[in-house]
Amino acid sequence: MSITRSRIVSTGHYLPENVVTNYDLEKRVETSHDWIVQRTGIHQRHIAADGQTTSDMAIKAAKQALENSGLKPEDIGGVIVATATADRAFPSVAVAVQHALGTQFGPSFDVSAACSGFVYALSTADALIRSGQVKRFLVIGAEKFSSLLNWEDRRTCVLFGDGAGAVILEACEGTGTNADQGMLTSHLHANGQYQDMLYVDAQSGFINMDGQEVFKFAVNSMSKIVAETLESVNLSPSDIDWLIPHQANVRILEATARRLGMPMDKVIVSVNKHGNTSAASIPLALHTAVSENKLTRGDLILFEALGGGFTWASALMRY
Ligand code: UT7
Repeated sequence: MSITRSRIVSTGHYLPENVVTNYDLEKRVETSHDWIVQRTGIHQRHIAADGQTTSDMAIKAAKQALENSGLKPEDIGGVIVATATADRAFPSVAVAVQHALGTQFGPSFDVSAACSGFVYALSTADALIRSGQVKRFLVIGAEKFSSLLNWEDRRTCVLFGDGAGAVILEACEGTGTNADQGMLTSHLHANGQYQDMLYVDAQSGFINMDGQEVFKFAVNSMSKIVAETLESVNLSPSDIDWLIPHQANVRILEATARRLGMPMDKVIVSVNKHGNTSAASIPLALHTAVSENKLTRGDLILFEALGGGFTWASALMRY
């Protein structure tokens, strides 16, 4: 029996021009290139210019995804933007993208699930596509985390960066788990018991994080959700062609891969160049993999992420 699925048509990205290296940060706080690389794998991050907004970055990434698809703006039925750093409380970044591109007047809204936001957005778009409401979505992760950083706090300011990544997701027909293209399954979770482990302080507006606790939870929850996802469609870790995880810390990626018995050459790593860009990190990593011609149509790819909340999520699809 053939069923409607959603598949990735194209990707796009945008990274601000300003590259800040670890050596630049050595001049601002008591840190070192070696400490940052050893503990996180990060070498550099992109930081938005003053006045450059999350919408500006989302629009640029969306335009590139559209260009790479050969589609026209009127072919796009809706926009979902995952972000924790919208320009304004409302209206959403998504309506700014919709307006800038002149897409159809379908659903356009933001999703707030911190670093898991892109996978939440992808899963939501997939559900709306499968229900027949929308044929094609622009799904974007866009963040200006530099606006949440205390540049005197070495525990957080070295970790994050700005940027945006976009995909066009469209309806396709598919059967079974091994045939065709498209999303096979997605899994979304949250546990608000952990709200105070990783949050933006309402008074200062700065990010606060209990790094070690987040690290432990991330490694555990990522291994568990990967197992849960694969079991739900009777596949195993050896079936995965590419793991495209949220890019917070290369040590988390290595620990997750180790637990799954996956070699690191199946894991897409971009945290070294981008830092942690929260909801933008997965679509940026995906775009990097596509640009480097790593992915082949039909490859099984697994997205997974953990973010403040905690929220955690996965999506398994044939590219
Ligand atoms: O995206 C959402 C999910 N976020 C994450 O997954 C992040 C998870 N956590 C992490 O990635 C890691 O916990 C961090 C990278 C944040 C921190 O690494 P760590 O190995 O857990 O370091 P730590 O917090 O245990 O700190 C070790 C030492 C401390 O010094 P003392 O107390 O041992 O003397 C820190 O004060 O390193 C010190 N330190 C630094 N030193 C140089 C903390 N930040 C820095 C720094 N440069 N930037």
